Amino acid sequence: MMSRTLVAEGMNHQKEQLPETNPTAELLNEITRRDQVFSFLKPQYNPKVDVKNGMLLYVEGVSVSFDGFKAINDLNLYIKEGELRCIIGPNGAGKTTMMDIITGKTRPDVGDVWLGQQLNLLKMDEAEIANAGIGRKFQKPTVFEALSVWENLELAMAGEKSTWHLFRAVLSGEQKCDIERVLELIGLETQSRMLAGKLSHGQKQWLEIGMLLMQKPKLLLVDEPVAGMTHQEMDRTAELLLSLAGEHSIMVVEHDMDFVRSIASTVTVLHQGHVLAEGSMKSIQDDQRVREVYLGQ
Ligand SMILES: Nc1ncnc2c1ncn2[C@@H]1O[C@H](COP(=O)(O)OP(=O)(O)OP(=O)(O)O)[C@@H](O)[C@H]1O
Ligand SMILES: [Mg+2]
Repeated sequence: MMSRTLVAEGMNHQKEQLPETNPTAELLNEITRRDQVFSFLKPQYNPKVDVKNGMLLYVEGVSVSFDGFKAINDLNLYIKEGELRCIIGPNGAGKTTMMDIITGKTRPDVGDVWLGQQLNLLKMDEAEIANAGIGRKFQKPTVFEALSVWENLELAMAGEKSTWHLFRAVLSGEQKCDIERVLELIGLETQSRMLAGKLSHGQKQWLEIGMLLMQKPKLLLVDEPVAGMTHQEMDRTAELLLSLAGEHSIMVVEHDMDFVRSIASTVTVLHQGHVLAEGSMKSIQDDQRVREVYLGQ
């Protein structure tokens, strides 16, 4: 806190000393100073998350009502470090609401949500939760269509200076390596200079996953990633998510059961805002209650 105050004061001080110049030069000076100041202020991404016992996410006794309707009802869910978890359940089961709660978009009425043993997510806002290492991919791809694939990844890079860097096209060797590594992971090396707007739907989805990866998240929440994809794109997405597991924990909400089967190790079935069953795909498929509420539909 102390250093932030000092830097802010320094900024004001510098501002007062600005000579009278034309507005363009002043703007340029301002940006330059922002760049210098922000190198001190660079937020600490991915603060240390205590995963001593291998558990990354704790959701305990969480409930939330909308106008008296319990969308989430005493939900308990634990995600291990590096695990790839599939969440399935009928429409309205509470899957998206659960992700809203984990990312701070919706506050539960009761319950606890922790990242590792020390970060109480219910005490943090959406930006703080994102900075702590939780990335979320919404269903619709949101890439910058007028920028190249490379520039999209560059913009998404962790740190306050990314926009400035894009402007000046100055990247450290390490940052370039990060982008190249992600490009390879998402299989878009040859499209690196292509405008994102020219990518196929599937490629845009991968690019967006890549943009999340630039922030080095610990936990990735992915809502219905293969909707609208071709079979080939679905296979590629399965490969991608499997390759990310281990280094990241991933929660995938998906309705397409073939896809879930192709990636799932542990599957959680949500029903009426509660965990109905949890286990291997086989045990889920054999579960009579699951068949009744979901697979039997
Ligand atoms: N902001 C809100 N206000 C009122 N009701 C809501 C709100 N958000 C969700 N709901 C309700 O909560 C329930 C759970 O919705 P949610 O979107 O989490 O389900 P879901 O499992 O993601 O479904 P789907 O598979 O269709 O995406 C639904 O009945 C929904 O109408
Ligand atoms: Mg949903």
